[in-house]
Amino acid sequence: MTHCRDRSEILAQLRAAAPSVLPSLLSCDFSNLERELQQLQEAAVTSLHFDVMDGVFVPNFTYGMPVIAALRDRTNLIFDVHLMITEPARHVKHFRDAGADVITIHAEAVNDPRPVLDEIRRLGAAAGLAINPATPVETIESILPNCDVVLVMSVEAGFGGQAFNEVALEKLKQLSMVSGSDPLLEVDGGINVATIGGCVESGAQLLVVGSAIFSAEDYQVPISELRDVAKGAIGISGN
Ligand code: DX5
Ligand code: ZN
Repeated sequence: MTHCRDRSEILAQLRAAAPSVLPSLLSCDFSNLERELQQLQEAAVTSLHFDVMDGVFVPNFTYGMPVIAALRDRTNLIFDVHLMITEPARHVKHFRDAGADVITIHAEAVNDPRPVLDEIRRLGAAAGLAINPATPVETIESILPNCDVVLVMSVEAGFGGQAFNEVALEKLKQLSMVSGSDPLLEVDGGINVATIGGCVESGAQLLVVGSAIFSAEDYQVPISELRDVAKGAIGISGN
């Protein structure tokens, strides 16, 4: 495996690319992953977002380590793995071994996220903590020093293609106020050209996008458009 980025390198690359669009492979064409990967690389994305669902923490079921490991052999992109699973502590090492760079667990899935976040860092990955729309920022405020990334869900975790929930904007603003630029702020769910600008203005640096990319014929078109709107929202002109 060519993959050997450590946590500081992962975070430096994510910061350098921000604000950035992370395609969520949940809505991709799984019958031709190699072609999907090629199209996304041509669109110059820096990171891919993997939605791992176990049918228990969320009703839906997706994929696990083998899919991530198979793609790891084909690309050097940063792998951002969003675990929507119960008992994440049992699995984080396997996801790191499969090639995950950022490993995000859900606050609602554990009693105390701290030991799992610390374990993710010990494995050399960046540690992410996700909160669903109903979970207030206050419940994770004391845990922010253990997080490299906070993922604010703008839909209830579990399915792609849902409508953006504006509660995420308030939470992003709140997190920006309390945390400055560390941890990195990520938002996921219902992001499109109409909603991405507000997310970036509210402090999001990593923008996860599924259906708005994969419903297009040529992924490069929505990705460049989303990137331009995201950069424009904080006064950076497109490339
Ligand atoms: C939802 C997932 C998201 C989802 C985003 O549980 O975490 O990553 O795939 O998809 P869209 O952009 O379609 O809301
Ligand atoms: Zn996700």
